[in-house]
Amino acid sequence: MIKMKIEKFKIEYYDEVVELWRKAGVEVVSSDTIDEVTRVLNRNPDLFLIGKVQEKIIAVVIGAFDGRRGYVHHLAVDPDYQKVGLGKTIMEALIEQFRTKNIQKVHLFIEKSNKSVIEFYTNLGWDVREDLIMMSYIPDKKLYKRHM
Ligand SMILES: CC(C)(COP(=O)(O)OP(=O)(O)OC[C@H]1O[C@@H](n2cnc3c(N)ncnc32)[C@H](O)[C@@H]1OP(=O)(O)O)[C@@H](O)C(=O)NCCC(=O)NCCS
Repeated sequence: MIKMKIEKFKIEYYDEVVELWRKAGVEVVSSDTIDEVTRVLNRNPDLFLIGKVQEKIIAVVIGAFDGRRGYVHHLAVDPDYQKVGLGKTIMEALIEQFRTKNIQKVHLFIEKSNKSVIEFYTNLGWDVREDLIMMSYIPDKKLYKRHM
């Protein structure tokens, strides 16, 4: 079993984490600039986690809380380290943080093109919501872009 150390994200990890997201196929968008990542970090310093194996960052997840619900964004494990339980390990660490904060329910979003990951989450106890439809709104079209 590979030993992974879980830590809170620090902004000095930014470049390494963006590289990890890209390597794992997570789409890096205009919400992932260093300023935007700093903003989500400042609001959720205990929920934005990384996993290190011998000082190399090989896992990351952004946890967030809006005052009512928790959210999970941009979970990624380095493809060289996938399928050995490290995704499960970092998600369990995040859930423990949500539990500590008495957060009642947590949501996440899966791209329809990434349906295979549903099984990963159902293994961890998550439910697919057949009763909900997600809608989005962009308040300022100048700000949001699908590229960084
Ligand atoms: C999703 C992801 C984080 C999983 O990480 P991982 O370290 O490979 O997952 P684990 O090894 O901890 O898997 C835990 C369990 O889920 C299963 N599993 C993992 N990935 C799976 C997948 N893509 N499809 C089906 N089952 C999967 C494993 O078999 C394992 O089951 P087990 O405990 O019964 O053996 C990783 O595949 C990844 O980074 N994917 C690309 C980015 C991504 O899609 N992120 C999620 C966005 S919503």
